[in-house]
Amino acid sequence: VLILPNHLAVIMDGNGRWAKARRHHRSYGHIRGAVRAKEIIEECARLKIPRLTLFTFSTENWQRPASEVSLLMRLLIKRLRKERASLMKNNIRFECIGNLDRLPRFVLDVVKETIAVTAHNTGMTLVFALSYGGRQDITFAMRELAQKVLDGRLLPDAITDEHITQSLATGGAPDPDLIIRTSGESRFSNFFLWQAAYSEFYVCDQLWPDFSAADLLIALQSFASRERRFGKTGEQLQVMESRWPRSQPG
Ligand code: IPE
Ligand code: IPE
Ligand code: MG
Repeated sequence: VLILPNHLAVIMDGNGRWAKARRHHRSYGHIRGAVRAKEIIEECARLKIPRLTLFTFSTENWQRPASEVSLLMRLLIKRLRKERASLMKNNIRFECIGNLDRLPRFVLDVVKETIAVTAHNTGMTLVFALSYGGRQDITFAMRELAQKVLDGRLLPDAITDEHITQSLATGGAPDPDLIIRTSGESRFSNFFLWQAAYSEFYVCDQLWPDFSAADLLIALQSFASRERRFGKTGEQLQVMESRWPRSQPG
């Protein structure tokens, strides 16, 4: 049996290069990328991964040409509408993190509808990081904490890591155990900055429209084979392992 991540996050990168290599317009890469996203979402649900976050659109992606941003927005709502039945069938709850205020109204409406319709599903939680930036996430969290201090509800010296964690868009959700990035780029691009403190990072060369369910399994196998030490020594972990083997609950 494979040790699966509780929370898997994916930086879906390489749509443009995939299209360019085939002499197509970038938009065709995004269309094919969306088809892959469906495949990976359904595979994660089948594997019973509790939480999947897909980096769908970054704060910085707003700077792309207006025509590309517009295509991405229209593609997003088209797929959300189309895949609603699949979300229900697979018992997937849909959520979003990011600065949704920046989304055009017609996109926000469909996003909210999808969140509402799937709210009572009890299987996998699927999170789209949409108009999301790690620094902006931390900035909003700081504003919230600063307001609490101003209101006299929190003392500066009492602020702990946990307060910051809870104030982020991810709230009480577990940190990502594994972050996959496609297309060979070894950077975070402003994704989960705080949340990735002890995430395992897996980079593969496939461009996102080529990343299949089989490639996902290879990434998961790599994750399962790693020793996560969290700052401790390997020997300390072996002692803990003999007392509380990972294969047993609790
Ligand atoms: C990822 O593919 C999709 C988004 C960032 C929205 P890209 O569009 O970044 O593709 P490349 O990196 O240019 O190949
Ligand atoms: C990261 O990819 C954002 C998403 C996958 C949504 P980018 O293509 O925007 O990142 P950079 O610009 O190569 O760092
Ligand atoms: Mg890119």
